[in-house]
Parts: sequence; C-alpha cells; structure tokens
Amino acid sequence: MAQKISLTRYLVEQQRVDGLIPSQLRLLLEVVARACKSISQAVNKGALGGVLGTADSENVQGEVQKKLDIIANEVLIEANEWGGHLAAMASEEMEGIYVVPNRYPQGEYLLLFDPLDGSSNIDVNVSIGTIFSVLKKPDDHPGVTEQDFLQAGRQQVAAGYCIYGPQTTLVLTVGDGVAMFTLDREQGSFVLVQEHVTIPADTREFAINMSNMRHWDTPVRRYIDECLAGKEGPRGKDFNMRWIASMVADVHRILTRGGIFMYPWDKREPDKPGKLRLMYEANPMGWLVEQAGGAATNGRQRILDIQPGKLHERVSVILGSKNEVERVTGYHQG
Ligand code: AHG
Ligand code: MN
Ligand code: MN
Repeated sequence: MAQKISLTRYLVEQQRVDGLIPSQLRLLLEVVARACKSISQAVNKGALGGVLGTADSENVQGEVQKKLDIIANEVLIEANEWGGHLAAMASEEMEGIYVVPNRYPQGEYLLLFDPLDGSSNIDVNVSIGTIFSVLKKPDDHPGVTEQDFLQAGRQQVAAGYCIYGPQTTLVLTVGDGVAMFTLDREQGSFVLVQEHVTIPADTREFAINMSNMRHWDTPVRRYIDECLAGKEGPRGKDFNMRWIASMVADVHRILTRGGIFMYPWDKREPDKPGKLRLMYEANPMGWLVEQAGGAATNGRQRILDIQPGKLHERVSVILGSKNEVERVTGYHQG
C-alpha cells in the first residue's frame, strides 16, 4: 500500500518544495486542524458530552446560539491565540474582532471562521462543519483593526473547512488546488485522501432551499423552473435536488461529484444582500470552488472580487459547476 501522507507532511512539502506557504502559515493551518480535531471529538460525543441543545444567548446576527456554536468558537480561539502566528481573529459568533492578547507575540495573519456551520443540524445528527479563511494583515501600520479584515476574497492566502460527517474531513487550499484529508482516529492525524479535486463543469444536481421559491427573484426562478421541467423542458435533461442546510455538507458534495448551490437574495428581507456571510462562508467556499475549477458569483459579480464593507456582511451565493453558475449569472444580466 502506498505510504500515507499526513497533513503535516503535505504542509511541509508545500513549504519546502513549492515555497507556497511560509512557516507561520504552516503553523497556523496545523493549529486550525488541531482545533477541528477537538471540535470533531465534541461533535461525536453528542448528548454523552452534554454538547447538544441551545445556549441562552444570541449572536450578533440575532441567531440563537447552540452550545456547540460557543464551544467550537472557544476551541478555535484558545488553540490559535498563543502560537505567535496571528494578529487577530474574527468569527460568526463574535461581534468585533478578537485581537491576540498582549502576553503573546503578534503574528502576520488574520483568521476568520464560522466555527460551526449548519447549526440547525447539530441536534439531529446530520453533517456540520467549521469554515475558515486566512488573510495577511496589511503591514503598513502597527496594531490591528477591523478595517484590516475588510479585504476582498481574492486576497485570501489559505481557506478551507472541516466537515464532521460519517468521516471527519479537512478540505484545504493554499492557492495550488484543493486537497482533502480524512481524520484517522487511531493515528490521531489527518491523512491525505485526495489531491487536485476537480468539479465537473456540468451537472444535473442543484441545491437550494425550495421553500423560499415564492420569494426569489426572476433569474433564479427561471433557472430552477427550467431544471424542474426536466427532459421535456429547455434543458433537455432531468435534474436531481439536494438541500442539507449545512453549507459545508452541500459544498463537500459539490467538490466530490459536482452540482450547483444557491442561497440567493430574496424578497423576504429585501435590504439584506443574502443570508450567508461573505467573509467566513462565501469567500473561503468561493475560493475552494474556484480552485477546483468551479465558479462562485453573487449573480452579478465574482464573489472573490467583492470589496467587503463590514465584518458580518451578507451576500447572495451561487457556486459550483462552472457552466451552471455561468448560466444563472447570465440570467441575471439578461
Ligand atoms: P450557520 O449554521 O453557520 O448559521 O449557517 C447555516 C447556513 C448554511 O450552512 C446553510 O446553507 C443555510 O444556512 C441553511 O439555511 P436555511 O435553514 O434557510 O435553509
Ligand atoms: Mn454557516
Ligand atoms: Mn455558524
């Protein structure tokens, strides 16, 4: 059997052979992976660990927090604050940025995360995940502010997610394609299971929350109507549908076998650009998908080119198989 390649070895080789990642970034990614391992343990214990159910609190987006939202957030902060690789962190579960305390050295990177994605699936034992995005702190001034985080997604230096499903798998890009690592629980380490992940350009599978159909805008409605018309319709083929309500799980399926995922702007809250968050959901997922040969837009613009105006900015998301994403985006321009 071929030798197993651990995440550590993969990162060392990316650093040494390809010069793609400096040592601070390598440390950062190792620490994020370690935190994900410990979140995975908590997720696996479920009721036995007393981690299910809601906490008595709301986050800045007005969502009721689950116990695991808070636990995962704390795990990521505690793991990352002392290593000297970070200047600050930002999370779905924290209103402002978390600056690395003075007692630790300050590093060059900024880490953003959705500590627990798919919270509505925690208690029903369905796949959930952690999403992360890494930026470089601008080096033209000392200290760190929220403004430093407001960089377009194309500036990311690393991005990924860890899915807690039947397997725990970490999916990563540092700008050289997408690689997947599955947690070997006996060894306690992430092992490379796939490199050069590629999303097929065409698909017959879409993911959208159909219960919102009556609120959609015309281009999205048109696209889905055409899919639903199947073989007899303008697309001349039948489509299948999946909606897991964990972006991590939907994106993981798309990276594995193709598909298109949409959480578009809709008329329920017309002033909000969308439900999903740009900086720690759409940007890292958008980059992963692009790195695997797919596309990601908000219907009008490439996600990675959007200049964020605030930390918790929301965005309309259309991502996945390239030809389908281009089709929906084209419908918006028509
Ligand atoms: P989070 O649990 O981090 O708030 O994210 C949930 C997101 C995303 O993962 C998923 O695609 C979507 O919300 C599901 O929304 P609906 O329940 O509206 O379908
Ligand atoms: Mn999320
Ligand atoms: Mn979340």
